[in-house]
Amino acid sequence: MTDSNMPLKGSKQRILNELCRGGFISGQQLGEKLGISRAAVAKHIKSLQQLGIEIFSVTGKGYCISGGLSLIDQQQVVASYLARGGHGALFESHPIVDSTNSILMRRLADKSSMASGTVIVAESQTAGRGRRGRTWQSPFGANLYYSYYWQLNDGLQAAMGLSIAVGLAIYDCIYNLYGKKVALKWPNDVLVNDKKLAGVLVELEGQPEGPCHLVIGIGLNFNMPANFEQYIDQPWTDLVKMGCKLDKNTLIAQLTRSLEIRLAQYSEFGLNQMYSEWNSVNAFRGELVNLMTGSKSWSGICEGIDQQGGIRLRCDGQCQTYYGGELSLRKVVK
Ligand code: BTN
Repeated sequence: MTDSNMPLKGSKQRILNELCRGGFISGQQLGEKLGISRAAVAKHIKSLQQLGIEIFSVTGKGYCISGGLSLIDQQQVVASYLARGGHGALFESHPIVDSTNSILMRRLADKSSMASGTVIVAESQTAGRGRRGRTWQSPFGANLYYSYYWQLNDGLQAAMGLSIAVGLAIYDCIYNLYGKKVALKWPNDVLVNDKKLAGVLVELEGQPEGPCHLVIGIGLNFNMPANFEQYIDQPWTDLVKMGCKLDKNTLIAQLTRSLEIRLAQYSEFGLNQMYSEWNSVNAFRGELVNLMTGSKSWSGICEGIDQQGGIRLRCDGQCQTYYGGELSLRKVVK
């Protein structure tokens, strides 16, 4: 796919707009509104379902998206961001992309000029990417797919530990909007009762010295459709299950503000101020854990992070610190 967004075509978008309201509407009513046949309506419904949108069809009643669907409204995002004291971010919203991170990484590779603070959000990703080469399931309209471009001027070394600041920004955002405290799993998972609410994929481009370009990708579950559960291989939760009222536009605005504040803190102080804060919300604090790469694994009691963002494990009275984004931490099930 190219860098351009893939808009939904006229009739399909209009059918989706009707269904987003949440009630039932028959194929005949849709056909009359749009001036197309019922067969054409059925074809569009099928292709919307193929995007991962859960549309029910009930004989005698018609089509329905249970509970409706709220789509991103870029103007509302900007208004909410400005109302929260933001000023520097540039928002781009797309219906369907391959991956919001890939769009920004391609722009970096093409040397396209891009302002720090560029945000890309999408309703769906056809090739969403997770950490360690995994796929990130991205059904249409169901979750947040968000990427933020940021330039740091102190070389690659200064970017180490950034995931920690990003995790705290998501913590701040959820607490600010919903008054709920999430837990953070090193290096960058957001958990609620041991279930994953959000994941972060940070990608870098830069030299050991000089400017470093960072793409911060965040996937946050809103309302995962039941038909996607089968594709997810770890315990997960979403904002709806947590009883949080959804307003995607506000969430995007607040997440951007929370990121800006934590990134400014990070560029000034590194993790000096943040590492003890992170340790107080560490999901595995004092737990027996396994730390794994593809081929090696270490066990120990999770003691939290150091000031560089490395994870400290205590084993036989000795504390060892491990660094690197390709490591994965698991709690040992007793
Ligand atoms: C993880 O494995 O936990 C990280 C998941 C990161 C997913 C997000 S969704 C928006 C951005 N675009 C991607 O392709 N990945 C990240």
